[in-house]
Amino acid sequence: MSSVEKLTILIFGTVFLLMNCSQNKVPTKPFGVLEDGREINLYTISNSRGMTAEVINFGARIVSLKVADRQGNFEDVVLGFDNLAAYEKDNSYQGAIVGRYGNRIGGAKFTLEGKTYQLDINDGANCLHGGKEGFDKKVWKCRQISPNVLKLSYVSPDGEGGFPGRVKVTVTYTITEDNELKIEYRGVTDKTTVLNPTSHCYFNLTGSPENDILDHELMIDADYFTPVDGGLIPTGEIRSVVDTPLDFLKPKKIGQHIDISNEQISFGSGYDHNWMLNGQPGQLRLSASLYDSQSGRMMEVLTDQAGLQFYSGNFLDGSMTGKHSIRYKHRTALCLEAQSFPDSPNKTNFPSVVLKPGEEYKQTTVYRFSIK
Ligand code: GLA
Repeated sequence: MSSVEKLTILIFGTVFLLMNCSQNKVPTKPFGVLEDGREINLYTISNSRGMTAEVINFGARIVSLKVADRQGNFEDVVLGFDNLAAYEKDNSYQGAIVGRYGNRIGGAKFTLEGKTYQLDINDGANCLHGGKEGFDKKVWKCRQISPNVLKLSYVSPDGEGGFPGRVKVTVTYTITEDNELKIEYRGVTDKTTVLNPTSHCYFNLTGSPENDILDHELMIDADYFTPVDGGLIPTGEIRSVVDTPLDFLKPKKIGQHIDISNEQISFGSGYDHNWMLNGQPGQLRLSASLYDSQSGRMMEVLTDQAGLQFYSGNFLDGSMTGKHSIRYKHRTALCLEAQSFPDSPNKTNFPSVVLKPGEEYKQTTVYRFSIK
């Protein structure tokens, strides 16, 4: 090949690459600056039907999710804040990826391969959502893969929050043409550890967090749940949902039994429990659905996880002001957090969350939207 031919190929190659990159360019804009000076960006991903998510690389948080109602009006179905300072102060995990360990580890301790690890204590005597500064408060690297796909990654140093091993996690958000928000997680470690991340979006399908979620109809495909003690730590028992207020096998309004006299309900101040999902962990299956008859919005949750934490926004008490200056009152949103069981590192009868060097942690969870 002559040098002129080589040069021509090089020029055409470069032009082709540049054209491709500009086609794939997804809108990114500055979202704010953290107290320590680091800059945070807002990324937008959408499909051709108009479903759109906005994500920031602080906590890999979903800050808005716009979905059509029966009339075709796109409205935001997740809570959150207008500015970065509010996310920096937030202790409700709005829209975040939480980890290393979603939910509680009792006594903020566990023993692995003969060694006991003391974790951050940040919830009574327990460790919640990774400790004092979990994944929700970290700056993630973010790469735009295409207009509908965003890949975020974070490297958690050995010992962070008290957990062993240097853990590298990636989270890929995709808005599919089927109106799904798909979340794929991957994780690797250099020492034996535990890993159990989840997504902590606060959903309100009415599109307005001025409304509570008590009329939303929820189905959870689970015959069993894991009862908790007064500190919301599972006792280890796996109990049937039958004849309990935690029976969501058939769709039921969240408000129907939320205030009845029941020990589990009073420990959670409502629903704040882990359901043991039916079907085979490791296989993506339909595990829950949520329907708001007012707007017609339906959200289905498909996951390959063993458990689902349903939290009915019991700690929202009107003291927090969110997007558009709306005060987030009691039970104006709910979380459906796909994960393994809380406190598994201390419960030999719960599915294992241990991750060893050479293995790969994998999770896929899909929030699929439609109209009914
Ligand atoms: C999870 C927990 C709740 C609460 C929220 C955050 O869902 O189960 O008890 O801590 O996170 O406020």
